[in-house]
Amino acid sequence: MLRSPILAAARNRRLERLVTHAPVSRSVVRRFVGGADTAAAVEVARALVADGLTVSLDHLGEDTSDRARAADAVTAYVDVLQALDDAGLTARLAPLTARAEVSVKLSAVGQALGDDGEKIALDNARTICARAREVGATVTLDMEDHTTTDSTLTVLGELRRDFPDTGAVLQAYLKRTEGDCRDLAHPGSRVRLCKGAYDEPASVAFDRSLDVDRSYVRCANVLLDGGGYPMFATHDPRLIEIVDDRARVKGHGDVEFQLLYGIRPDEQRRLAAAGNTVRVYVPYGSQWYGYLMRRLAERPANLAFFARALVSK
Ligand code: FDA
Repeated sequence: MLRSPILAAARNRRLERLVTHAPVSRSVVRRFVGGADTAAAVEVARALVADGLTVSLDHLGEDTSDRARAADAVTAYVDVLQALDDAGLTARLAPLTARAEVSVKLSAVGQALGDDGEKIALDNARTICARAREVGATVTLDMEDHTTTDSTLTVLGELRRDFPDTGAVLQAYLKRTEGDCRDLAHPGSRVRLCKGAYDEPASVAFDRSLDVDRSYVRCANVLLDGGGYPMFATHDPRLIEIVDDRARVKGHGDVEFQLLYGIRPDEQRRLAAAGNTVRVYVPYGSQWYGYLMRRLAERPANLAFFARALVSK
């Protein structure tokens, strides 16, 4: 019931200004966000890698409305890739599974900038992919709301001509996704499957969580049966168990689980100790508002924690 209003609030610029300038205790942000700048994010990454995990760093920011900010986002990614390399967290020769990577929202690098948006985002994403390749890292394109799916998949297709290891994200809550999984389940194709985090109309998305879960399992089967490299992003214990089981039955030695920084850290370590590749998605930077609101929408139980933090210093 609370999901839609919280997700609407996630895109409200006025509220964003209010909340980001409110005396939010550092703990609420620190719990889900891996630091305010590159140096802090790389330190978090270093600690996770030391624990046997791998990372995907996400420079926070989305729905960029001008070219200069899109260019700033590219610079931030280029800088963090360099910092990851300096910290020894990338590996030019390591298998894909061992490499640090970055996750990029196309809306942060210009996708929403009018008619030229897709081209601007493609050029910017190309710059990031080129730098990633130089330092031995990979890039995954996050997926945003359904109005951007076609454009994001088009950009992905273009990028993969030059950077075939560019990862895609597909959202099980969209009715189209099983088909998209079929299209993308081919050798060399890295695909992250998640449930989906945006407020979508019933015309395009499953409404009931049971239907989303069923779709997730169907999509997981398609990805596991294809020749690509699936990456299962979920904290849902039932889905993790099902995927783990199906992967074994289908003789998949190599699947990757992905979880968000700060969510179920014990499970992250348990999965890694059991021999899985586990990648932790670490958002960092000052523009944490939209990201944090989506996490709240998933788990309104966190609202009380958030509200307490807003009134305490
Ligand atoms: P869900 O939120 O339904 O939770 C299922 C169960 O998991 C809960 O009932 C509980 O048992 C457990 N759980 C969840 N949160 C918990 C917590 N805080 N503490 C303890 N238990 C908890 N979305 C998108 O639209 N585009 C994208 O590109 C991405 N990228 C992405 C990357 C990665 C690595 C992850 C993990 C997720 C995304 N997402 C995403 C977000 C995704 O779509 C989804 O919104 C969240 O992962 C929440 O869905 P879950 O699958 O975790 O299940």
